[in-house]
This record gives sequence, structure tokens and C-alpha cells, in this order.
Amino acid sequence: MTTKKLMEAYEDHILPTYDRFPIAIESGHGATLRDFEGKEYIDFSSGLGVNSIGYGNEKWLAAIRDQAGTLQHISNLFYTAPALELARRLNEATGMGGVFFGNSGAEANEGIIKLARKYSYEKYGEGRSSIVTLKGSFHGRTITTLKATGQEKFHNYFFPFTPGFRYAEAGSIESIVKALYGENSAGMNKCAAKEGSNDTDCCAVMIELIQGEGGVIPLDKGFVSELRALCDEMDLLLLVDEVQTGIGRTGSLFAFQQYGIIPDAVSFAKGIAGGLPMGGFMVGKALKNVLGPGTHATTFGGNPVCCAAALAVLDTLEEKVLSQVSEKGEYIKSAINKTDSPYIGGIRGLGLMLGIQIKGITHIELVKKLVSNGLICLTAGSDVVRFLPPLTISYEEIDRGLEVFIHTLEDVT
Ligand SMILES: Cc1ncc(COP(=O)(O)O)c(C=O)c1O
Repeated sequence: MTTKKLMEAYEDHILPTYDRFPIAIESGHGATLRDFEGKEYIDFSSGLGVNSIGYGNEKWLAAIRDQAGTLQHISNLFYTAPALELARRLNEATGMGGVFFGNSGAEANEGIIKLARKYSYEKYGEGRSSIVTLKGSFHGRTITTLKATGQEKFHNYFFPFTPGFRYAEAGSIESIVKALYGENSAGMNKCAAKEGSNDTDCCAVMIELIQGEGGVIPLDKGFVSELRALCDEMDLLLLVDEVQTGIGRTGSLFAFQQYGIIPDAVSFAKGIAGGLPMGGFMVGKALKNVLGPGTHATTFGGNPVCCAAALAVLDTLEEKVLSQVSEKGEYIKSAINKTDSPYIGGIRGLGLMLGIQIKGITHIELVKKLVSNGLICLTAGSDVVRFLPPLTISYEEIDRGLEVFIHTLEDVT
């Protein structure tokens, strides 16, 4: 098989929904990928933040093999040990009260949206189902999570979208309060909002702590703690989408642990099973029984092989990997800050979720050049090159990747 043949056959058989690089990846090891022609690439993308412990991790492989040979799947009408062990470890590590396992990030976010609406419906009845999300956010590609996404360009073609989402400026409590009261909120202020939990038609506020697709934009800690307090005062659920920031990506198991808040629900996906499809969400102890039997389900949720893979990911993170994430992130930041390229406007982010602002050239063209020079990385927002390397990446691989980055920028004409 060659890249050319694969590309032609894709055109015949696969829907053209992605704009792909003209590269076919055959294998990977550590944080290094190899294409069908034998060319190597350093991977600063982890398959969009998924391959959290790199390629070919022996412990992960053994866990998958063992579990597939023991029991590959059973319905959620039965109990299994890997699902229990994974949920127990996630609850213990975060202080949350219960886990639901699903398959992807969008589906996980659908779950926490359902949780908030049911919580509010049972307590206050109909008419309190809207959710405020942030401008610039990204929450998924289903009809509901597209509408939850606070970017107009995603609200297209697929009408009618799920109603009940309003958008606020990231970082502004005033804007959140305004959105909580809808279009006719002129004159309302935080004090008005405080007076009663029933005077809004909203049940929740949903946020990413670092907007990933939106441009690697971290929320301000003060804003997040004020938002937590506002949600408490108004009995709104604070839903945190940690699909991209979760599972060690920012240097703690979940980013909310660095923000000093406890969300009412947290979604996760991407890195959880190290490359197998898995997502899910955790809820606070008080919300444990909101989604009772028959209210939420998915056939593959809690699949034993995915759970075994996720347990291997958690074990690996505990073996010094998690504690080195921030250090590696700082190492990359300082190397980028030392370059005096006129095309770099700064670097931001937490742990190994980093965004480099690009000026004077388009970030999309730059990423194309980087990939063809052997560094796989991502775009984000309107002008950002995003790095999401495997959390296990070695310093040697980081150096090789940075070398490609710096040389590529030097060659830009
Ligand atoms: C913050 C966030 N939420 C949700 C999603 C959607 O996840 P998935 O593609 O697994 O459905 C993504 C994907 O990039 C994401 O970054």
C-alpha cells in the first residue's frame, strides 16, 4: 500500500467530510509516527489529544489484550469489574460522586446537558431548561452540541437545532448574567439574579476552562470562581467540558483541580482510554440520582476493553508522567519564547495544551509546512498553532519537534 493508492481509494469509498493532509500514517512508537513511505514525524497532536500515553505503550497493549481475551463486551444489564474500578479511581481522584461511561466527547456533553435539564425540571418544573455557554467555545458535532457551541459558523445547514442555548462573553460575569435573563435583560444585574433561583429560564452554565478549538484560551481563575458562586446562588449547574483539558492534559488529572472549583458535572473523552473510543461524565455527589434507570444509556458505554485501556492510562499517569506534564509544557514555552521569530505573537496554555499565536502568515499554511517538514501539530481559533503532544513524550522528541518548528519558521519567506 502507498499513500497515493490510499488517497485514491478514500475518494471512492469514504465521505469527504475531512480536509486531510496528503499523508497516510502506518505506525507509531512513543511520540513518533511513520508514514507508508517510511518518513518519520514527531507528533505534537496525539491524534487530536487522544493518544495520551503515546503509541505502543506496553502496559496499555497488555491490558487491552488481556481484557479482550477475557470479555470484550457485555451489555449494561450486567456488572463488570473494569468499569467499577475505573469509576472508583475517577471518583477518588476528583471527589466527584458518580460516573457515566459513553463513547465520545459530544455524547458526554449531551449527557451533562440532559442531567442539568432533568435536575431543573424535577425541582422547578417546565420553563427552566436553557443553558448559557461561552462565545468561542466548542462542545461537539451533534445537533445539540453544535448549538451549545458558542460560534456562529457551526450553526448552519442542519436546522432546526436544539433550542435553549444562549451565549455569553468568556470572562465576563456581567455578560453571563445578561444571558441568564435572555434578550430582555437590559438593566438586570447580579443582585437581581441573586434574589431567587426561579427568575431565570436557565438551568446551567457550561464552560471549557481552556477553550481548545477556539484558540487555546484559558479562562481567568477569578472569573471561574465568581461563576461558581453565581451558579450556587441561583441553583444553576456548572457544567465543565473537560473533553480536551481532562486526563492529565493540563498537568492535573482534570483542569478544574487547578482552578480551585468543584463542578456539578464534568465531561471527559479524548485521552481517557489512550486511543480507544471512550467518553463519559462525572457528577457531584448531590446529583448522583438525577439520571435514574431508563433515563440515559448507550450500548457500548463502559465497554470492558476501553475501561481496561483507561485503567492503564491512569496507572501510567501516576508513574511520574502526570507530575512531568507541567514541566514539559514550561520547557516548550521557554524554547518558543527564546526564538525571535517575527511570526510568533506569544505562547499560552497549561501543561501540554499549548497555543502559539501566529502573525504575519496564516496558521493553516504554517501547519501544512510543519507537517510536511515532519512535525504534526494542529490549528486552533483564527491564528493559533496548537500543540497537544502525548503526555509521555520524551525530551528528545520534544527537542526534535521544536527543531522542526524553529527551522520551518526560519524558512518562511
Ligand atoms: C472541548 C471539546 N468538547 C467536545 C468535543 C467533541 O468531542 P468528540 O469529537 O469526541 O465528540 C471536543 C472535540 O474536539 C472538544 O475539544
